[in-house]
Amino acid sequence: MARPPEEPKSRSEPRGNAVSQSIDALLADEVKVPPPPGMKDQANVRDLEIFDRFSEEHFPACFEEYARLLDWDRPWRTVLDTSKAPFWKWFVGGELNAAYNCVDRHLERHGDKAALIFVSEDESQPAQAVSYRDLYRRVNEFACLLRDFAGIRRGDRITFHLPMTPELPVSMLAAARIGAVHCQVFGGFSGAACGTRIADSGSRVLVTMDGYYRNGHWISHLDNVGAAVETAESLGQPVEKVLIWQRTPGKPPGSYRLKEGRDFYLDEVLPRYHGKAVPPERMRSEDPLFLMYTSGTTGRPKGCQHSTGGYLAYVTTTAKYILDIKPQDVYWCTADIGWITGHSYVVYGPLALGTTSVLYEGVPSYPDAERPWRISESLGVTIFHTSPTAIRQLRKTNPEGPARHKCRYRVLVSVGEPIEPEVWRWYHGKVGKGRAAVVDTWWQTETGGFLCSTLPAIHPMKPGSTGPALPGIYPVILDEEGQPVERGSGRAGNICIRNPWPGIFQTIWGDPQRFVDQYYKRYNRDPKSTDWRDWPYFTGDGALEDTDGYYRILGRIDDVIKVAGHRLGAKELESACLQVPGVAEAAAVPLADEVKGRVPDIYVALRPGVTPSSEMADRVKTTIIERIGKIAAPQHVYIVEDMPKTRSGKIMRRVLAAISNGVEPGDVSTLVNPEVVDAIRMIAGRRVGEGPGLSGETIRREVRDLD
Ligand code: PRX
Repeated sequence: MARPPEEPKSRSEPRGNAVSQSIDALLADEVKVPPPPGMKDQANVRDLEIFDRFSEEHFPACFEEYARLLDWDRPWRTVLDTSKAPFWKWFVGGELNAAYNCVDRHLERHGDKAALIFVSEDESQPAQAVSYRDLYRRVNEFACLLRDFAGIRRGDRITFHLPMTPELPVSMLAAARIGAVHCQVFGGFSGAACGTRIADSGSRVLVTMDGYYRNGHWISHLDNVGAAVETAESLGQPVEKVLIWQRTPGKPPGSYRLKEGRDFYLDEVLPRYHGKAVPPERMRSEDPLFLMYTSGTTGRPKGCQHSTGGYLAYVTTTAKYILDIKPQDVYWCTADIGWITGHSYVVYGPLALGTTSVLYEGVPSYPDAERPWRISESLGVTIFHTSPTAIRQLRKTNPEGPARHKCRYRVLVSVGEPIEPEVWRWYHGKVGKGRAAVVDTWWQTETGGFLCSTLPAIHPMKPGSTGPALPGIYPVILDEEGQPVERGSGRAGNICIRNPWPGIFQTIWGDPQRFVDQYYKRYNRDPKSTDWRDWPYFTGDGALEDTDGYYRILGRIDDVIKVAGHRLGAKELESACLQVPGVAEAAAVPLADEVKGRVPDIYVALRPGVTPSSEMADRVKTTIIERIGKIAAPQHVYIVEDMPKTRSGKIMRRVLAAISNGVEPGDVSTLVNPEVVDAIRMIAGRRVGEGPGLSGETIRREVRDLD
């Protein structure tokens, strides 16, 4: 059943409704591209037989194949325990350590091999290789410090607010070694955003860095410590220790004043642990490895809890099968480790396979849009993994750039957002010189690893479509009533996964009810059932399946805005706006952007008596940056007299998004105040048809789906 259906019967078959017909028109000119010749003989997965091994009749035992790629201290007894559905437990009874699997087990054969190659944004600095032996030493010393100096014990949570340097994977693996649960907060998030996550996770220790280079500037990251600690403390979580790595050891500290007894430069403390080793803690397969905070439909970020055994097995095997990583590869994923892609496919998957993983500090287009090709050429990168936003940016700035370099990619990976067919063709043709397999991988923070993608040596690629489901993943597209949309019909609906898989997150930290409500309640058939078939996982994405079994992801159906591939909740943005004195109401909507895919547009209404001004708009913008971070900076802040509202007083964000994007707002008859639409349009200065005009159909659909 997971074997992809046959080739399309006919593209001209009538489709269900106007919506699917317009999507069909988008797909119509997509020609499939065969996988690169010669790849099949060498790839890690060479034939479709894998889909038989992972068919439903072999579920869940088929996933033992994944677990067997790891070293276990004790084997598992039960592959999948469903007794507390939907809190799935994988490889129950098994014990292992993630750091051991990513470091120690490679020492004997690959001790001198580079585990990481760190590339500074400053191009005058040479690339630094960290061998598996170096990594072992650094992880052990820091693990020892965490245990003996910071008092971290098995099961404790520890927050990291670290940029992209080797200290980040070292810190993660050190925590994993002693059984602590790491919570890395994206380095670009503000101190306040970090503080809410410290409080939510109940971390007593914060690990940070003095600064880093971004876009040619030194970012003084320590400035975030004050806000992080204050925010955490205001939420009831004291921070006992702040451990500070130095980007350049020995560099004199900036203006930040250390708090005596709380803040410590690791340069000063770490030498005490020189050469010390800590035995890896034997963790139960279902013990949490880390929390990854992500945005959802409420203002409160969710700490997605990932397991040790299931997660590690899933990311290791999918890195092997989908990214086709081999021992001799030099693999470079540009994702920040502060997001799930970095956890799964910069650190855990590649290192568990004993690969060389490149870690690049800065933005791909610094100092110019040929940097990635220079890095790839000089390091001999064979697998390159990035986001459509980066690809769009590189293509826009320097479309002929890749031709000037001798890059030899085998596999090119796209992740995080839909990729437009013309952008895909540039990636394949110019970056891959037509010789690389492109995999468009669809998944989420919650899913741990890939859910849909083509297999690089086997499946033809279809620009703009992610591809079929991975082995052992059984998707279904459900309509609003919970009825399956006919397979291969090309009709849009809510894509769900019918079965659990080892990489699925375990719960939302501290909020199991929200976990059930948000991901399972909608299509659950019986809340008491312990049969996995009754618990389809609700992804929150709209999608369609074409006749060839390839899925096309249409985007979020909730209030999540994907900005440059990063996930932001409209409610988080709105609650930041409401912190500004004088703001009565706020709405955040997606605006299509040529490079970033989407950026937020903000509409605010002021309290009576407050005068609208450009200072007010600026204050809204700076507050968003302070509370969330620069990535959330809105494109525009519009101050409006009144918001478009339904009779029940709900703001109709669909109308605002339509105005921002210059598309038809659709039915406005349910508004109590339809007259505001024209007034807002005047303020926004946009008429219908004057929008960014990009990916017209997708933004129209997205706007229509907003409530
Ligand atoms: O809407 C989908 C989109 O990104 C969302 C997940 O975002 P996040 O949790 O930040 O994870 C990013 C890393 C996977 C999804 O719900 N998305 C992700 N990959 C793709 C995608 N949309 C289209 N095509 C993709 N390949």
